[in-house]
Amino acid sequence: MLDLKIEGATVVDGTGTPGGRTDVGVRDETIVAVGDLSRESAGRTVHAAGRVVAPGFIDMHSHSDWRLWANRRAESKIRQGVTTEVVGNCGFSPAPVSDEHLDDLKGFALYLPRGMDFRWRSVGQYLDAFDADGTAVNVVQLVGHGTLRVAAMGFARREPTAGELTTMQRALADAVEAGAWGLSTGLIYAPGSYATTAEIVALARICARRRRTLYASHIRGEGATLLDAVAEAITVGREAEVSVQVSHIKAAGRPNWGKVTRALALVDAAAAEGLDVMADVYPYTASSTSLRSLLPDWALEGGISSMVERLGDPAVRERIGKELEQPVTGQSLLDRVGWENIMISYSPRRKDVEGKRLSEVGGLTGALDVLAAEPRSAMILFQLDERDLREALTHPRVMIGSDGSSLAPYGELGEGKPHPRSYGTFPRVLGEYVREQRVIPLAQAIHKMTGLPARRLGLADRGVIRPGAKADLVVFEPRRVRDRATYEAPHRYPEAIEHVVVNGRFVIRDGEHTGSLPGRILRLP
Ligand code: ZN
Ligand code: CU
Repeated sequence: MLDLKIEGATVVDGTGTPGGRTDVGVRDETIVAVGDLSRESAGRTVHAAGRVVAPGFIDMHSHSDWRLWANRRAESKIRQGVTTEVVGNCGFSPAPVSDEHLDDLKGFALYLPRGMDFRWRSVGQYLDAFDADGTAVNVVQLVGHGTLRVAAMGFARREPTAGELTTMQRALADAVEAGAWGLSTGLIYAPGSYATTAEIVALARICARRRRTLYASHIRGEGATLLDAVAEAITVGREAEVSVQVSHIKAAGRPNWGKVTRALALVDAAAAEGLDVMADVYPYTASSTSLRSLLPDWALEGGISSMVERLGDPAVRERIGKELEQPVTGQSLLDRVGWENIMISYSPRRKDVEGKRLSEVGGLTGALDVLAAEPRSAMILFQLDERDLREALTHPRVMIGSDGSSLAPYGELGEGKPHPRSYGTFPRVLGEYVREQRVIPLAQAIHKMTGLPARRLGLADRGVIRPGAKADLVVFEPRRVRDRATYEAPHRYPEAIEHVVVNGRFVIRDGEHTGSLPGRILRLP
């Protein structure tokens, strides 16, 4: 007797091979049979002719660790078919925390939900606190280097002392011991940007003591300095002997379009050398980040309150303006993007500017005013090339990662005009790039959402459909699946994702959220 039988769907099993029509049987939280199950009885049967059943999608690059504290239903992700999120990316994680620098961490956070009370200090305590309540999706946690640095030394713009480095190393070692999956960096974000390569290597080495750990990096530059930045990530992999994930690979700014090909050639060369280097990408030609990342990183020295103070000083504003016009890289922001291509997406204390282009709010002056009023403001930058995107989507070492979060069209997670990737990434790949543009075959696209990230993480029992694997499954209609979230109206669920099962339980049934919270923290074995 099965608990669940999915009958007559095309089973695309996550390995990259095209599927065939057959049945999938689930008992408890495990897939127990794949094949003709017409003679098996089941507690519930889903008739799925004309549908695809695939392993639940693994979002390789997410920031949901913050948002899930506001809403455990993971609405915008589960409705895409995502059943596991890799969180703690770009240097940001909610732990470890030190008493001394708790306020710095709160300033560093790009989003602080009401439910986040920082009752934890270590990453282990954090994982336990998170896991005390259920959640719709499974979660793989990385430790943010920015957070580690903030806990050890605040927003100090210098190298760590030997003692501070040891503090970071110990916190990271404890975190990995408690089940965190590795280290992430955000080398464009202060204070992560204050770190030298040697500091990153010294930390990544700690991860490398355990198998399957990952060093995921928002690299030091994604525009003029893209290739140097990819090379730096590879150096960390070589010197620390750790697996490297280049996060959300892209070439930002028109003068840099086409460089993704060269960046991926560096990844291939590293692989040929025997290093384990891969990347992830989201299917959009706009990026999104904090508005404060427009600033040169010295402007954040000492923390967010210092930044706000500086923004009140006309001399400092002038210096910021000059540095943006004539940066060390020789490419100014305006060469790369232009104010008309930057949209303010989120600014709770300046709702009047949400959805507006910087060209409409007075360019840099306007941006600095918004930032002073709301340091947590975010922006969307229309600055990427479609051809670069296709290049990344089709590359065998690139998987899918949204760089978004679990949002919801209601409550505090429904505010602003966030990047549509949080609602549309996976169905957009399936609808736009598989069906409409035929950039990649369906089975390969699914592999990049399932088997490939699972193998990357060493998750032996997820990301595939076979007897013995965990029952994380998605059933969708391949002819109709598509994203509906746009830059103007981002809080919209996709179409034709019909059922999503996490650990054997329905979270989405017939397109509706059941309220079930069967997900959990997955711990590094
Ligand atoms: Zn990032
Ligand atoms: Cu990110």
